[in-house]
Amino acid sequence: MKRVFSGIQPSGTLTIGNYLGAMKNFVRLQNEAECYFCIVDLHAITVPQDPAVLRTNTMSLAAMYVASGIDPKKSTLFAQSHVRQHTELGWLLQCIAYYGELGRMTQFKDKSAQRDVVTAGLFTYPALMAADILLYQADLVPVGEDQKQHLELTRDIAERFNNRFGQTFVVPEPYISKVGGRIMSLEEPTKKMSKSDESAGAYISMLDEPDVVRKKISRAVTDSEREVRYDDANKPAISNLLTIYALCADRTVEDVVAQYAGQGYGPFKKDLAEVVVAALEPIQARYRELMSSGELAALLRDAAERAAEVAEVTVQDVKEKLGFVV
Ligand code: TYM
Repeated sequence: MKRVFSGIQPSGTLTIGNYLGAMKNFVRLQNEAECYFCIVDLHAITVPQDPAVLRTNTMSLAAMYVASGIDPKKSTLFAQSHVRQHTELGWLLQCIAYYGELGRMTQFKDKSAQRDVVTAGLFTYPALMAADILLYQADLVPVGEDQKQHLELTRDIAERFNNRFGQTFVVPEPYISKVGGRIMSLEEPTKKMSKSDESAGAYISMLDEPDVVRKKISRAVTDSEREVRYDDANKPAISNLLTIYALCADRTVEDVVAQYAGQGYGPFKKDLAEVVVAALEPIQARYRELMSSGELAALLRDAAERAAEVAEVTVQDVKEKLGFVV
C-alpha cells in the first residue's frame, strides 16, 4: 500500500483554495493509501504568532480536517509539534540542504520581501518540510501547485542523502490536481487565492456565511465578453470560477460549460454561489459540532503516538548513517 503525507499550516481559517486544491485529494487518497495528515504548527512559527491564536488555529484546523472528510480511523491526523522526530530530522536535513537552493525558493523570496524581519526558520522552512515527508517514507504528497518547488527540493535532498549514505529515503512524488491545483483570487485572477490576502473579497473562507459567499461571488471579477467558456490564458477569471463550480459540484468543467452556453455571466454566477454554499454548509455544521465536542485533543494525541513510532525508525536509521554513536 502506498504511503501518503501532507500538511497544512494552522495560520487562519482555510480557504476553498486549500480545500479544493489539497484537502479534497486527501479525502480521496485515504481510501486507497496509508495516509498521514499533519497540522504543521512548527512551520507556522516561522512568522510571528500570537500563542493563544496559534493554539485556537491548531484545534480549528484539526476540526476542519475531520469536517472536510478526513476520517481519523483511516488516516493518522496529528500535530507536527507532538512528534519530536520532525524537529530532529528537520535539523539533520538542514545540514544536507544547501544555502543556495534554500535561497532560490520563490515562496521564501515572496514571504521575506513582505517582512521587515525575517527569521532563520523562514529560510530553512523547506528542510523541515522535507523532514515531514521523508520521516514517513511517503510515496505521494498531495499539494497545490504552490508547493511544487518545495517538493522538488525534498526530492533533491532525499536523492542526495541516498547517494551519499546509501538507500535511506523513499523519493516522493508530488500529487497535484490538473483541475484545482491553483485556485485563483476572486479579485485578481492572475494571483493565487490566499488566506493572507489583505482583501477578504479575494478569497472564500471555509467558514464564510452563505450570504458572505453570495456577495463575494457576485462581486468576483469576470473577463470581457459575456461567454461562459474555459480559456485559462484569455479568460482567467471565468476559468477560475468554472474550476470552483466543477469541483464544488463534483462535475467536469466541460459539463458546466455546456450548461451555461449562450447564457452570459449572470445566471452562471448566481448558480455558482449556491453550489459553493451547498458544498460548504455540511462542512461548517460538522465543524461546529467538532469544535464544541472536546474530542479532538485526545484524537490528536493518539495519532501522534502512532506517527512517532513510524518516524522514529527513520530517525534512527538516519542518525546511524550520519555517524552518530547510537
Ligand atoms: P499551506 O498551509 O499554505 O496550504 C495547504 C495546502 O493548500 C494548498 N493551497 C492551494 N491549492 C490550490 N489553490 C490555492 N489557491 C491554494 N492555496 C493553498 C497548498 O498547496 C497546500 O497543499 N508548506 C506547506 C505545508 C507543509 C507541507 C508539508 C505540505 C508543511 N510540510 C509536507 C506537504 C507536505 C504550506 O504552507 O501549505
